[in-house]
Amino acid sequence: MIRAFCVWLAATPLSVMIGSTRWVVPMVQTLHILAIAIVLSSVLMIELRVLEWAGTSQSTNQVARRFLPWVLGSLAVLAITGALLIVSEPQRSLVNSAFWLKMCLLALAVTAVLGLQRAQWRIVSSQEKPSPAGVAVRAIAFLTFFLWVAIVVAGRWIAYVEHG
Ligand code: HEM
Repeated sequence: MIRAFCVWLAATPLSVMIGSTRWVVPMVQTLHILAIAIVLSSVLMIELRVLEWAGTSQSTNQVARRFLPWVLGSLAVLAITGALLIVSEPQRSLVNSAFWLKMCLLALAVTAVLGLQRAQWRIVSSQEKPSPAGVAVRAIAFLTFFLWVAIVVAGRWIAYVEHG
């Protein structure tokens, strides 16, 4: 089923055009990598504030309000460039376990970041001092960053996993 979809997608005019225009894929990959840098650094700034390791001159709300648009904006760029990379060579990603692992990790990471902000805003900003719930939120913040790192590893691994 997914292989038939890959064959159909690879025959579409868009896929043929991307495949026959030498500069498109390298340019899209470059945009993908630039967006990765923005999403990782923005998530890091939010997590460092949640952990109270940096940015404590501002409240968690202020830091999240400043960086969350960058996270969501660069995720949109990643989704568009990622989709174009899939269209360019569907078989390379859609029948690739590293790609699907990455998509699962990404769903978890986005849920964690949005969930954290909601919990964080309610717990820390009102009390502004560590509490058991705060400690749990900080632990999740710490782990969430490694989830994003795992997405990068899975993304890079796509190129090394055999795709039939
Ligand atoms: C939002 C949805 C996303 C889609 C659909 C997507 C899709 C893709 C695809 C198809 C590739 C090319 C793999 C290849 O042919 O080798 C790729 C590469 C990659 N992706 Fe994503 N991606 C997405 C988000 C992300 C995110 C959020 C990150 C990290 C924070 C990420 C990190 C990477 C990395 C590190 C590579 C390898 C880049 C390279 O070596 O050129 N991607 N992605």
